[in-house]
Amino acid sequence: MSHAKNFFAGPSVLPLSVLEELQKDMVDYKGTGLSLVETSHRSPQYDEVHFKAMNLFREIWGIPDNFKILFLGGGATMQFSMIPMNFLSGGGSCDFTLTGTWAKKAYADATKLGKINVVFDGKEDKYTNLPDPSTLKASEGARYFHMTSNETIGGIQWKDWPETGDVPIFCDMSSDMMSRPVPFEKFGIIYGGAQKNLGPSGLGIVVIREDMLDKVNPDITAYLDYRIHASKDSLYNTPPVFPIYAMSLVLEKVKAEGGLEGVMKRNAEKSALIYDAIDNSDGFYKSPVNPAVRSDMNVVFTMANEELEKEFLAEASRRQMYGLKGHRSVGGCRASIYNSLPVEDVRALTDFMQEFKKAKS
Ligand SMILES: Cc1ncc(COP(=O)(O)O)c(C=O)c1O
Repeated sequence: MSHAKNFFAGPSVLPLSVLEELQKDMVDYKGTGLSLVETSHRSPQYDEVHFKAMNLFREIWGIPDNFKILFLGGGATMQFSMIPMNFLSGGGSCDFTLTGTWAKKAYADATKLGKINVVFDGKEDKYTNLPDPSTLKASEGARYFHMTSNETIGGIQWKDWPETGDVPIFCDMSSDMMSRPVPFEKFGIIYGGAQKNLGPSGLGIVVIREDMLDKVNPDITAYLDYRIHASKDSLYNTPPVFPIYAMSLVLEKVKAEGGLEGVMKRNAEKSALIYDAIDNSDGFYKSPVNPAVRSDMNVVFTMANEELEKEFLAEASRRQMYGLKGHRSVGGCRASIYNSLPVEDVRALTDFMQEFKKAKS
């Protein structure tokens, strides 16, 4: 069976070897006679997988000991609610950077619970640009400073972080989690859905600095309370067993292939290949975003007209290159080139881009 090339934005590419291992162990997990997904989450078999995933996540990304790693249900969207419920209820305020669709979704939920200061809104540039982080300041009394590190739909990515003093940065890193080193000391919370760089969907990962737990709204219900999940190592209730299991296999592979350094090297190669293909196309392919903030994860590009884009997508599909259609809200094309996408698949795409351009010029 040939495996297609997967440029979907999420759920997205998983290593073929991980899919095969999941398939192999799905019915009989390591000779136990049961599948792991029908085994108690209190069993020694699951315990080993759960803590392996957590420990590898910390080790590979270099997360300091004063942060807890939480595995929660509800993906990243759950965190859009959970963060303000924990930190804004009771009249608190926070800062927000409005950088695109995802930041605005997080913002919409936060406005229901507290006062929000918008410190940047990219509306005028149609969310194709980001400010110099050194020009941003946190507001007096803000409980946190919210950012979206990579806008999956708009294809823009913060390359550096603002200096926010005592106000911790809370950041949605759904679509570039563990793709580069992060200065953890600036962050109070880093969160995201697993389904881009790490595993299947349905799993929300939250990296929370321990002192944040002292600031949680004490009247919150159990599942929404970060303190409960932190004190129970994310085993307060039944965790999303399957995505955590799959992620543990992805992380083992990442470690075997050079850890974060290896990821960064492959990602740099992939993004250079595709942006070079765009920039060297004499304007046949165009990137609508400011080159300084181009995403290394989601590459958006357009062509002269929609007809041409349709033809491109149809031919790409014929070649088993899937997921290249831009998000319905912005149109155009988008190649998501997450951590698990092989460099060869990006090379196949850029070869096709050149061929298509030649055929149409
Ligand atoms: C940046 C960003 N934030 C949040 C989400 C929502 O994630 P979930 O579907 O896991 O709730 C997505 C999903 O694509 C995303 O790209």
